[in-house]
Amino acid sequence: MSNPRVLPADSGLAEAASVLRTGGLVAFPTETVYGLGANALDARAAARIFAAKERPSFDPLITHLADAADLEKLVGSVPPAVVALAARFWPGPLTLIVDRPAAIPPIVTSGLETMAVRVPDNDHARELIAAAGVPVAAPSANRFGQLSPTRAEHVVRGLGAAVDVVLDGGPTRCGIESTIVDARGGRPVVLRLGALPVEALEEVAGPVTVRPGSSGQPVAPGTLAAHYAPRTPLRVVSGAEPPPADGVRRGFLAFRDRPAAGYVAVEVLSAAGDLTEAAARLFDALHRLDATGVEEILVEPVPDIGVGRAVNDRLRRAAATWHPAG
Ligand code: TXA
Ligand code: MG
Repeated sequence: MSNPRVLPADSGLAEAASVLRTGGLVAFPTETVYGLGANALDARAAARIFAAKERPSFDPLITHLADAADLEKLVGSVPPAVVALAARFWPGPLTLIVDRPAAIPPIVTSGLETMAVRVPDNDHARELIAAAGVPVAAPSANRFGQLSPTRAEHVVRGLGAAVDVVLDGGPTRCGIESTIVDARGGRPVVLRLGALPVEALEEVAGPVTVRPGSSGQPVAPGTLAAHYAPRTPLRVVSGAEPPPADGVRRGFLAFRDRPAAGYVAVEVLSAAGDLTEAAARLFDALHRLDATGVEEILVEPVPDIGVGRAVNDRLRRAAATWHPAG
């Protein structure tokens, strides 16, 4: 597999913007995970995203804007609750559902009449989108169903030359994807738990409904039961018990305390017990455990509050692909 061009996020920005403008694919850092970007006004460019990711065409993309003020320029007027959430949380890890404007080709939204949109809180990302001069459709820059990328090297390893340029802006700050909310009417619905905690949302929007993940034809396929999965079988366990003495080489992903001896590889998400730090390190730690060649990864859940809910959601989905040996 040949490699994409990897450019530093500052000096490579102008070139990356021109690749976007001319229909190419650019992976770029956001505050959540790396995105695989294409010009959202260009159906052919958007189609290349689905091919590069081997992503099913029923899984719609998120459109990224440089500035909150660009929303109404693109979409026209939006419901007051959407305006309020955007005003409070953009730039930031919140994706909002709006009506799809005619300028956005249906392939971007997988034929839905709605569109997911956000303004990322990362200077390189916003400068890139502004320099490209177009809205940028971008899912996470990984192959469908696999671990999300929080570093440029994860993108290179996962997508190779399927992407034209990777802008390297270092590790991402939040480490898990944005929270997706439909606030178009009535009580807001969280379609995907993410880096913006539900508690923060509720301070602005009042009580919200968290839609439990569904399988089949989901509203937000980031909520497919099996998703975000390492290659190694992963199992969620209740705590750091010593592993059975059965000769299986196991890794352990711990929240704050190192487990008892017996694991070949151990990653601790946050020795200080900080959920934000744990979220930021989650996918990176899973990428590293995956690379050790262990036969199974055991994981303990983190406290189920704040961004910890989104971390546990990712762990459950990563574990959904676990196949018992034999
Ligand atoms: O943090 C993020 O959101 C990252 C960065 C790159 O911005 N992007 C991301 O994209 O996580 P992706 O494609 O991995 O997940 C996008 C999710 C999908 O599950 C998709 O189904 C959902 O957003 N989505 C997109 N458009 C939607 C719509 N109109 N209604 C409901 N869900 C939608
Ligand atoms: Mg994704």
